Amino acid sequence: MNRIPESTPTAESEQSWKSGTAPGIFPPVSHGIALFRRPLEFLNSLPTHGDLVEIRLGPVRAWLVCHPRLVHDMLRDTGTFDKGGPLYERLRPLMGGGVVTCPHSEHRRQRRLLQPAFRPARVTAQIDAMGEEALAVCLGWRSGRTVDVSAAMMTLTTGAVSRVLFSDSLDAARTAEVRDCLAEVVHGLFVRTVVPVDVLFRLPTPANRRYRDAVARLHRLVDAAIAERRAGARRDDLLGTLLAAAEGDDPAVTDQEVHDQLVSLLLTGSESPSLCLSSAFSLLARHPEAERRLHTEVDTVLGGRPCPGPDDLPRLVHTRAVIEETLRHSPPGWLFTRVTTRDVDFGGRRLPRGTTVLYSPYLLHHTPASFPEPERFRPERWLSRGGDGGPYSPMIPFSAGSRKCLGDSFAMAQTTVALATIARHWRLRHPPGPVTPVRPTVTLGPRSLPMICVPRTGDTVPAPARAASGSTRDTALSGRTEFRKAGDQDADRA
Ligand code: HEM
Repeated sequence: MNRIPESTPTAESEQSWKSGTAPGIFPPVSHGIALFRRPLEFLNSLPTHGDLVEIRLGPVRAWLVCHPRLVHDMLRDTGTFDKGGPLYERLRPLMGGGVVTCPHSEHRRQRRLLQPAFRPARVTAQIDAMGEEALAVCLGWRSGRTVDVSAAMMTLTTGAVSRVLFSDSLDAARTAEVRDCLAEVVHGLFVRTVVPVDVLFRLPTPANRRYRDAVARLHRLVDAAIAERRAGARRDDLLGTLLAAAEGDDPAVTDQEVHDQLVSLLLTGSESPSLCLSSAFSLLARHPEAERRLHTEVDTVLGGRPCPGPDDLPRLVHTRAVIEETLRHSPPGWLFTRVTTRDVDFGGRRLPRGTTVLYSPYLLHHTPASFPEPERFRPERWLSRGGDGGPYSPMIPFSAGSRKCLGDSFAMAQTTVALATIARHWRLRHPPGPVTPVRPTVTLGPRSLPMICVPRTGDTVPAPARAASGSTRDTALSGRTEFRKAGDQDADRA
């Protein structure tokens, strides 16, 4: 196909696409800087220039896909649009060749290996434990005190995913280490993605040292967990499955792969659900009507019980709608890259092999044609919608196609259970004064979120049945260390 002039609509299958260039493409770093400084505004400005819009990330020429149908076409053709581009190139030193970052050629085998741990029956079997994790985290909260909700949610989600990986929650010290390292890594990854000029990141600056140190600490943490298991008893968890494969069942699985899969799952499985829950509490505190409906539902469904069980989930309709609307409004994964593996005609352009292509769930979720008044947080959108939005749904918080999130059902169950459990006992309030706007990095959501605890029921939060044993207790205690002296404020002022 000949190169098509800028902004000319082009017939392709049954749809015409318009391609264009974002203004201000020179100097070459300008779009990267715009994406770094005011990412969401920059993204939202792009669809006016076309369905496929050219931008520059440092020296890299890239195309952002703005139309939901084109995004789905790209996500379905995983052989042509493979994991790659600035984000995945920077993720590989961290996650190696695990399922999140591996190329198309490796993907099916890896996904088959890991998928059983995330099947619906396995997720249902985890629901009581998810409730316990949530109770353990809010166990030590006290009326009127300020708690760092984002740290507490990270404790909760790291606990839940480490049960899948290692049969047990990580202890408090390791959870805190994962949290600290992640904060450093996601910031560093974002800078490296939007300004992909590697020489800058090889300089011996304090920021570069902190980034490299955080990556190394994460690797050491996972190596220690593997070494402990090898020295101890076999267990029926994901690490057990991977070690069994590496030690004989499956010659394709190497020790390095065991390590890479664990790092990949620990990071993806803790970061995004934690940001989703933090965003939900922050949004609810600013939307009293949505919060009131949530509380009414939780009180009705749970009755006097401290947390939901598996049978309650289908009845937590509004709770789930709050999670869905949070994922629409503030999707934790908001920007991803791909690379073309061959020359391809796409969106009215001929994209040569090796072209960087981006898509953004945030952009699709904030298109007024798909979601009227997209900036408004309205969970009721999800009460009246039937079905899953069809094959070209603009709602893609977990992506789509064969590289769709492996933990989507797990994450929906976990966030719904955690939200219902905490909302059963606590109302969380922003401290007086303006709420600090969220600044996206490689993920989107509040990374520090001080909120004031207001008890809902007057009773103290009961200790979960198994919280006194082992690591769940540690998780609760680590949640408790998040209290701040500055939070000794009167709850009525919130
Ligand atoms: C609210 C929570 C979550 C959100 C919003 C989310 C979102 C996403 C998105 C958008 C992708 C696709 C990335 C791309 O297209 O480049 C993805 C992939 C992935 N996610 Fe999640 N995720 C969540 C929770 C989880 C959990 C709990 C796990 C597992 C423990 C997990 C494991 C994965 C894996 C392994 C992939 C790569 C899948 C593949 O390439 O086959 N995620 N996630």
